[in-house]
Amino acid sequence: MSEFIRIDNLKVHYPIRSGFFNRVTDQVKAVDDVSLVFEEGKTYGLVGESGSGKSTIGKAIIGLEKITSGNIYYQGEEVSKQARNRRSEYRRNVQMIFQDALSSFNPKRRISDILTEPMRNFANWTPEEERRRSIELLEIVGLTEDALNKYPHEFSGGQRQRIGVARAVAINPKLVIADEPVSALDLSVQAQVLNFMQRIQDEYNISYLFISHDLGVVKHMCDELAIMYRGRFTEYGTRHDIYEEPQHIYTRRLLSAIPQIDPNNREEHKLARLRVEKEYQQNAAKYYSEEGRVYDLKEISSTHKVALKDVASLTEGSVR
Ligand SMILES: Nc1ncnc2c1ncn2[C@@H]1O[C@H](COP(=O)(O)OP(=O)(O)OP(=O)(O)O)[C@@H](O)[C@H]1O
Ligand SMILES: [Mg+2]
Repeated sequence: MSEFIRIDNLKVHYPIRSGFFNRVTDQVKAVDDVSLVFEEGKTYGLVGESGSGKSTIGKAIIGLEKITSGNIYYQGEEVSKQARNRRSEYRRNVQMIFQDALSSFNPKRRISDILTEPMRNFANWTPEEERRRSIELLEIVGLTEDALNKYPHEFSGGQRQRIGVARAVAINPKLVIADEPVSALDLSVQAQVLNFMQRIQDEYNISYLFISHDLGVVKHMCDELAIMYRGRFTEYGTRHDIYEEPQHIYTRRLLSAIPQIDPNNREEHKLARLRVEKEYQQNAAKYYSEEGRVYDLKEISSTHKVALKDVASLTEGSVR
């Protein structure tokens, strides 16, 4: 198996301080016991509503967020215990694409500077090599050499996201974390950016962690998906498991929220939503504890895990 990154029992809790003495009175459990394995060349979806902890997982993997407990392993080594040179190899191999390229790029710098930044940080290339690589990257995302001398504001939103993709893959990372990379774009432009991401994956065998609040957007991208609610995974499985055989009520609610473009199906879609809501009203205890906590994941097939009170409850009523 080509596993190269493993996240074990990750927790990221933020202290909440209050009162006169500013004591820690509570905690936000942004990520609360999540495990995930990355294999080479695969796309992983991380989907959940706002505040569920998606970005916190991404930031913890890339080292921007302090981990409360749990471990991240890179090629079998615990990242937090790695020596400096190995840690730098990890950082080189895990890159990020942000939702809004405009705010993640320095507006005063030309595209040539923006693209070569990771090369200067992590690769020992000559200026000529950096330039050649930059032109190659621009071509990969459908832009031309003359972009090098321009500034970020001279591009459209879609073009800027494509430059963000190019920068993230500049030094051939193994994993690219894409946090809502297309959610600020129009639908037609979204498809274009996703296409380029897929083309790059085919060429370089990169893995993606694709973060989104919308199961519709990531449907065609992902090999495997984690569905997240309140810091925990409610369901994990292949694209088929999640889209064709969803078991957790939360997954089914997210699926029923995908907009229907076909007017002939709207009525049916509405009925399906009502069915999901009804099942939720009747069977919430199967899926959430009394305190509203998501249960631990239980394996229901070799690829598919669901957070249920017990697996026996699965057979009782898995209507869709
Ligand atoms: N620095 C912080 N201090 C305290 N709480 C935080 C901090 N950062 C995030 N949180 C909280 O952690 C939870 C998870 O946040 P996170 O940004 O990971 O969610 P998300 O799933 O990415 O949401 P969105 O879809 O809106 O981007 C939220 O309740 C958020 O308010
Ligand atoms: Mg987020």
